[in-house]
Amino acid sequence: MLDTDKILARTGGRPIRRMVYTTDEIAERVREMGEEIAKAYPPGEDLLLLGLLKGSFMFISDLIRDIPRPAQVDFLVASSYGSSTTSSGTVRLLYDPEANLAGRHVIIVEDIVDSGTTLNRLIPLLDARGPKSLEVCALLHKRIATSLVRDARWVGFDAPAEFLIGYGLDHSEDFRNLPFIASL
Ligand code: IMP
Ligand code: MG
Repeated sequence: MLDTDKILARTGGRPIRRMVYTTDEIAERVREMGEEIAKAYPPGEDLLLLGLLKGSFMFISDLIRDIPRPAQVDFLVASSYGSSTTSSGTVRLLYDPEANLAGRHVIIVEDIVDSGTTLNRLIPLLDARGPKSLEVCALLHKRIATSLVRDARWVGFDAPAEFLIGYGLDHSEDFRNLPFIASL
């Protein structure tokens, strides 16, 4: 367990409100998710993990190592947040590899589902590319989205309605490198 001084050294002196998920809790849950995902797809069929940058970079790198079957990885950059802590309601695709999704099982890997706007914009767009299946795996889910076109099939934790940082999650680009998840 990290003590207060070590946390403050990591955050540059900015105090966190509370620890929400420790490094060990995250690692254990990600391992379970990896096992579940591996079991859900028939052997021999292509599986692509499509990470939404930047927030999912740490989660997807751990998750893919915990999936004991062949899998490929690619990324999308969809921006819905500026520097504020509330959703702007718009999603822009800043990077889109236009990976060939046809005939492949695709899992969108998201750090956190908040309003659901990001997924609601992305899913129809990716569905149109003809994947064999398209599912969502989210580390965190705030369970406040009222109309999701497709809910996440795999969720790490039901998150509290607080602004969370760490393990990929940022506030104005800071705190992504914290090895735990805290509330700001
Ligand atoms: P949605 O489109 O409202 O579901 O928001 C999804 C995106 O907003 C996530 O991928 C995050 O990048 C960001 N986000 C939502 N809630 C939080 C939070 O508590 N901390 C940091 N980023 C968040
Ligand atoms: Mg994100």
